[in-house]
Amino acid sequence: MTTTSSPGTFYGRGFAEFYDRYGTGWTRDFAPLLAQWLSGRPGAEERLVLDLACGTGVSAQILLRAGWDVIGLDISAGMLANAAHRLAQDVETGRVVLQQAEMTTFVLDRQVRACVALEGALNHLLSEEALEQCFARVAAVLPVGGTFVFDLYEPHHFRGWHNIGVTDEPDAVIVKRGVWDEERGIGMLRFSGLFDDGSGPIRVDQTVTSRAYGADVLNALLSKAGLDPEPYPAEVPACACGRSRSGSCRTVYAATKAA
Ligand SMILES: C[S@@+](CC[C@H](N)C(=O)[O-])C[C@H]1O[C@@H](n2cnc3c(N)ncnc32)[C@H](O)[C@@H]1O
Repeated sequence: MTTTSSPGTFYGRGFAEFYDRYGTGWTRDFAPLLAQWLSGRPGAEERLVLDLACGTGVSAQILLRAGWDVIGLDISAGMLANAAHRLAQDVETGRVVLQQAEMTTFVLDRQVRACVALEGALNHLLSEEALEQCFARVAAVLPVGGTFVFDLYEPHHFRGWHNIGVTDEPDAVIVKRGVWDEERGIGMLRFSGLFDDGSGPIRVDQTVTSRAYGADVLNALLSKAGLDPEPYPAEVPACACGRSRSGSCRTVYAATKAA
């Protein structure tokens, strides 16, 4: 597997199961709205979408129900195993293809009409160089007029990483502790504890690393890759972290592949 100077965060199996149960709330709320918006875009009669860093397949399932065929790409075998289970029927019929790859270097064997990357997945890229590589790969698989949509967490959200949090549920006892470096815009969050996925308790021990980027930097990098930034005009649900109802936790970006 190819790696880059700025690799993402690689989610292990125990964390994948826990994430699927407790970390996908915003994606569940946002993906139906996004699917509807994408379906109204020019050229959407060709309904093939790349779900970049697709995780456990929650958004892929929603896009499938909205009539899109999906390529789900992720670096994590644990997340993809969960997605394969969720999407088994659609994998069987060929409506979903799951691909294990790094989002800064991936190659597809066909073009897609749209690409999405949800739940702060791109915050896991820790350098502008890595984002630039990722955007170049996205631009390479979109036709002119194709759409790219992603959300990024903002510093307001990451400041919450300084707090210690505990998920204490019948099937999970997980402690979250982290650190956010305001000056560098980089933080780490560690999840540790036990989660019962139905087959017995499994150990969760995962550190995720993320970086925040300003809109100016993002829009310049998109333009450099040949992706014209535009305001995302549709509804964006509140962040599931509960720190903000005003949208200051995350920004949704949209861009169109330029001629
Ligand atoms: C916060 S999860 C989001 C998953 C999914 N998009 C969702 O909405 O639930 C971030 C995902 O990014 C994936 N990831 C992190 N770094 C990556 C990289 N460099 N290349 C591909 N996937 C990566 C992780 O494995 C994980 O599945």
